[in-house]
Amino acid sequence: MRFLVTGTNRGIGLELTRQLLARGEQVFAACRQPDAAADLQALKDEYGDRLVLVTLDVSDPASIAASYDAVRQHTDALDVLINNAGVSAGSEPLGTVTQEHLLANYRVNAAGPILVAQQFLDLIRAGATKKIVNLTTGISSIASRENGGMYSYTASKAALNMLNKNLSLDVARDGITAIVIDPGWVQTDMGGPNAWITPEESVRGILKVLDGLTLDQSGHFFHYTGSEVPW
Ligand SMILES: NC(=O)c1ccc[n+]([C@@H]2O[C@H](COP(=O)([O-])OP(=O)(O)OC[C@H]3O[C@@H](n4cnc5c(N)ncnc54)[C@H](OP(=O)(O)O)[C@@H]3O)[C@@H](O)[C@H]2O)c1
Repeated sequence: MRFLVTGTNRGIGLELTRQLLARGEQVFAACRQPDAAADLQALKDEYGDRLVLVTLDVSDPASIAASYDAVRQHTDALDVLINNAGVSAGSEPLGTVTQEHLLANYRVNAAGPILVAQQFLDLIRAGATKKIVNLTTGISSIASRENGGMYSYTASKAALNMLNKNLSLDVARDGITAIVIDPGWVQTDMGGPNAWITPEESVRGILKVLDGLTLDQSGHFFHYTGSEVPW
């Protein structure tokens, strides 16, 4: 299958790329600076044409359009889009919230995924499995939220959840399944060293959920273990 994954130079995106390549998929691995992405370059040496490195800054509409042209040179269809790239403004206690943080998180975490999905829709329509997976977070669940803080991050991911719901309704007629998934608390630069699970474990779970997805699950909010998360 042909996968497009964003934010692949480190963290969960890099591990998604590793596991997808190991099981034989074609991966279009997007990141802001492929030339500086040493781990991706090493995977390129190992997997050759099955890995295509694509320049993509998801906060920049011109970069999204250019990444489409780059992918289009290699394929006329994508089976799965994984919107993984994300940022966090950190703990943000009340009193430190700024417009700059709110909008910066929204640009990458909410606007980025929907604009990427919209740009690549014709390739996904032409794919065999037609799936869009957006990395959200469990702390974007309004129903489950028990602490304050993290205003920019949690709200931008809650916006992503709604954007995905709308998308799922619009693309149902094309047979495209679009979900949001919480990868768990993962040991990456974002999750930090005290997080509960490794990227390997998180990605194994994400791919299991992705592989088993059916159209009637479109628009839903999953945990990487496969359970559903309340809105
Ligand atoms: N780790 C966790 O515990 C956790 C929990 C819940 C949800 N998530 C979500 O899972 C996803 C991956 O997180 P992670 O833990 O792997 O984070 P990470 O280690 O901080 O990696 C973030 C990735 O996103 C990329 N990125 C950031 N801004 C970008 C932009 N404008 N355009 C393109 N790429 C951009 C980064 O690239 P650069 O190197 O260029 O910055 C990097 O590749 C995120 O959406 C995150 O919100 C993570």
